[in-house]
Amino acid sequence: NLEEWQVPLTTIPPSLLSAATALRTTPVPVAFPTETVYGLGADATRSAAVRGIYTAKGRPSDNPLIVHVADLAMLRSLLSAPIPPIYLPLIKKFWPGPLTILLPVSADSQRKLAPEVTAGLPTFGARMPASPLARTLIKLAGAPLAAPSANASTKPSPTTAQHVLDDLDGRIEVILDGGPCAVGVESTVVDGLCEPPAVLRPGGVSIEELRACRGWEGVVRAYRDADAGEEKPRAPGMKYKHYSPRARVVLFEGGDGDGKKKWQGAGGEEERTVGVIRTGRWEVDGGWDGFEVEEFGRQVGEGVVDVREGKLVGEKELRLLDVDLTGGVKAVAHGLFAALRELDRLGADVILVEGVDDGDDIAAAVMNRLRKAASEIRRAS
Ligand code: TXA
Ligand code: MG
Repeated sequence: NLEEWQVPLTTIPPSLLSAATALRTTPVPVAFPTETVYGLGADATRSAAVRGIYTAKGRPSDNPLIVHVADLAMLRSLLSAPIPPIYLPLIKKFWPGPLTILLPVSADSQRKLAPEVTAGLPTFGARMPASPLARTLIKLAGAPLAAPSANASTKPSPTTAQHVLDDLDGRIEVILDGGPCAVGVESTVVDGLCEPPAVLRPGGVSIEELRACRGWEGVVRAYRDADAGEEKPRAPGMKYKHYSPRARVVLFEGGDGDGKKKWQGAGGEEERTVGVIRTGRWEVDGGWDGFEVEEFGRQVGEGVVDVREGKLVGEKELRLLDVDLTGGVKAVAHGLFAALRELDRLGADVILVEGVDDGDDIAAAVMNRLRKAASEIRRAS
């Protein structure tokens, strides 16, 4: 029962206490784990604190932030009316968890979120994270936390504390380490205030799971994976470059049966260190003749990077970084951002990614992130 849910306050690690103190007393945001990705949190009721998030990330301030709450009482304290009934089945089923709902911003000044949170919109996004560490932090901070993903703007979202450190070292003071994030892609953002209700960002809760809830049978996808330009996007974050490693990303849409030949021909002339992310159909056997295995078994999320040096059949001398994420679509979601970051770290010039079949499961989130990260998309011919 969510009403009676309590944070277990008996065994609080000192790091959690100092993180909560920093949130209460300083304008510097704190990085913390959630089940989706690491967040960069600040007291959502204090403008100076929220501005600190935009500064640390280098994030454009017209992109609104999600408000993270520890419990329903905290959420209600931000509202001037009851929670709209359309959301009740979702809250019951998916909270705490990877779902963000849009709610009306209260006009009541007693309940106000800092205006920087919503970037001037009449709605705000709210979510109750599943991570007990996250909820305990929010409870100890005594305020809802505005938190975007804790990456530098434009980079892949962080799914380990190390990723946060790689991006934000020197810009923040505290990173709470809760280990790798379980889901690996961000929350699903839904708007139930419009008719029909809409998914604004696919994520950890799938469209098929939403559709199974009362009032959500007719839920529509109101997002575009590729930036189509002219029309004003409904989720403001969608117009920016996103999830991008330094390396050029070439995405092969799901359904390419014989991927092997395709990825062998995909690198540019100057691109000699080639990362390959395999999710299912692509095979290594036979395509790797002439490669010596130099290092093997570096762990990336659920997958493994296998670094091979040598000469590909043909003239070009290549170093291949093979990431195996073939454990099913949940494993792809779990390891994707880590794989993009690891391939950057190992010096990939280009990253060739095997897509998954788009669908109403978490594949929608995987393909959304990949299409945004890609500078080139190839389709099965
Ligand atoms: O899983 C997550 O949601 C993570 C963790 C840290 O909780 N957070 C996250 O935040 O992904 P961020 O800021 O990277 O993405 C927030 C998304 C953006 O696409 C933003 O435009 C959308 O939510 N959003 C937030 N408030 C909105 C609003 N009022 N109307 C429409 N879209 C909104
Ligand atoms: Mg983000």
